[in-house]
Amino acid sequence: MAVGVFDSGIGGLTVLDAVTRRLPDLPLVYLGDNAHAPYGVRTHDDIFNLTCAAVERLWAEGCDLVILACNTASAAALKRMQETWVPKDKRVLGVFVPMIEALTERQWGDNSPPREVAVRHVALFATPATVASRAFQRELAFRAIGVDVEAQPCGGVVDAIEQGDEILAEALVRSHVEALKRRMPHPQAAVLGCTHYPLMEATFQEALGPDVKVFSQANLVAESLADYLVRRPEMLGSGTESKFLTTGDPKAVSSKATQFLRRRITFEPA
Ligand code: DGL
Repeated sequence: MAVGVFDSGIGGLTVLDAVTRRLPDLPLVYLGDNAHAPYGVRTHDDIFNLTCAAVERLWAEGCDLVILACNTASAAALKRMQETWVPKDKRVLGVFVPMIEALTERQWGDNSPPREVAVRHVALFATPATVASRAFQRELAFRAIGVDVEAQPCGGVVDAIEQGDEILAEALVRSHVEALKRRMPHPQAAVLGCTHYPLMEATFQEALGPDVKVFSQANLVAESLADYLVRRPEMLGSGTESKFLTTGDPKAVSSKATQFLRRRITFEPA
């Protein structure tokens, strides 16, 4: 009964950690496509092909349900995968919908027409590919009207975090927040739309100010998965063992992941 968690690299471990806290008995197979990361600067076709290959690998591990923890894959590939590629007995879910449901105060499965919601000015921080896809605005428009979204492509932040350069990552976050605030001076809410950004949440909050509610994905995704599995227990696949797989160099990825999450993590070759 394992579930797959996919990310372009190690950032999705923030989602995996939240899922493990919420569902401690659920085996999880994590796959990081480190050989091809970062996805945030790739074309949509490229992201689609790479994500499909990774999801097939997780299906082979007995994970009928795969969570795309990667925002870039969720934004640039998921809709096309669901419409053209995923077979009936498998599921691939992304990370945008739980976030938007929280933002628009909707329950899962509430398909009523879009309506006005409390929040009107939303700042979205994400990778260049996620921003270019406009997937966040598309999903939001199904559920809410009158919400103004200003999106900031946060070039360089993922790389700085991956390199462990906290000072550079902080400086980049502050400059991206400033750039956004020039276009939207008073956002009410901010969405951290990238797996790596929860690690910089305090800097985002400080730069945005105390009045801005910052939405971070990991816990929302974990809650939404727990809810989904109650409704669809048959989607728990045949896999029984938790493991960490990477398309990159397992030794290098294990050491980076251990540093990233501050606990020992051992990756195997995918
Ligand atoms: N994991 C990606 C995301 O959540 C960020 C890293 C990348 O660009 O591959 O968007």
